Amino acid sequence: MNKICFFDTKPYDKIYFEALKDQYDIEIEYFEPKLGPKTAFMAKGYEAVVAFVNDAIDKETIQILYDNGVKLVAMRCAGYNNVDFKAAYKKIHVVRVPAYSPYAVAEHAMALLLTLNRKIHRAYVRTREFNFSLNGLTGFDLHGKTIGVIGTGKIGRIFIDICEGFGMDVIAYDPYPLKDSVIRYVPLEQLCRESDIISLHCPLTKDTFHLINEKTIDTMKNGVYIVNTSRGALINSEDLLEALKAEKIGGACLDVYEEETELFYEDMSYTIIQDDVLARLMSMPNVIVTSHQAFLTKEALNNIAETTLSNCREFFDDKVLTNEVCYQCSKGEACPKKNNQGCF
Ligand code: NAI
Repeated sequence: MNKICFFDTKPYDKIYFEALKDQYDIEIEYFEPKLGPKTAFMAKGYEAVVAFVNDAIDKETIQILYDNGVKLVAMRCAGYNNVDFKAAYKKIHVVRVPAYSPYAVAEHAMALLLTLNRKIHRAYVRTREFNFSLNGLTGFDLHGKTIGVIGTGKIGRIFIDICEGFGMDVIAYDPYPLKDSVIRYVPLEQLCRESDIISLHCPLTKDTFHLINEKTIDTMKNGVYIVNTSRGALINSEDLLEALKAEKIGGACLDVYEEETELFYEDMSYTIIQDDVLARLMSMPNVIVTSHQAFLTKEALNNIAETTLSNCREFFDDKVLTNEVCYQCSKGEACPKKNNQGCF
């Protein structure tokens, strides 16, 4: 039996990994801390470690893991913007779960939009106090509204289908548009100009960092709604806050936040929050924040556990790592992986 260690463990992860580990002949040691330079030494004695979205797999962490004999980092998520691939190249293989339930994320994006627009979050609190007044709860029909979808990958496409089901007019922007698709692609500027709602479904890269900023917000319709279930740093939070205060942006649905690492997934209810931007955003009636939970369905958790354990099994069996990502291929450059070989 091969042994792996697991960082940033939460009870809901453990249930699904425990249920499947024997099938893959893998033993798991669970650690509560996040993976980072201060905790990487805990991986000593394990060839493979499992990590998650808010772990810091930076140059320093990678060097410590490497010095301690780690050869595989198995991300139990799709995004990998928190991995320094350059530092890992030719030292540590990195695998991920490319898709576990795009439905989970797309459905959560719509849940956030419906909640905020129809003020369900406010109505829920009111009616529990037997306040049955409707003042301030007016929403708008989604039917007939224009929604701009940025990123038409697995999640974006499902979100588009959901929006079409609501009778919305969908326009989209993606630098790599799908061929032979009926999706109406438009330039980013046009999307910003014409959309009543904008939903982000692209990865965080150097090109998409702060894609939503003062300048792009200026070009948007007054009262536009922004939905972000992708990565926090796609939005410049300070610019978002200013635009909400100025009532330029009519509402923000945020499942992710650029400074979420130390906050999300933890119970901070007894803590004085030092992040004034987040605190101010949370004080607004037209902002709804969930704690990076768009992925959190039974189906997604099961698929995450299955693919992560299968990724580790391939590694222990010396097979080609189906879901490997490296410095070269993450930049879209030539990599032996294209010929069904390992990245290095
Ligand atoms: P995907 O890789 O299938 O699709 C991403 C799309 O974004 C691709 O079509 C790509 O061409 C496009 N893209 C790349 N650069 C772009 C740019 N500059 N502007 C616009 N589009 C661009 O990824 P998938 O599975 O659809 O996931 C999308 C994102 O959702 C992930 O990168 C991740 O950050 C986020 N995510 C969030 C979760 C959550 O729980 N909140 C869970 C899973 C993913």
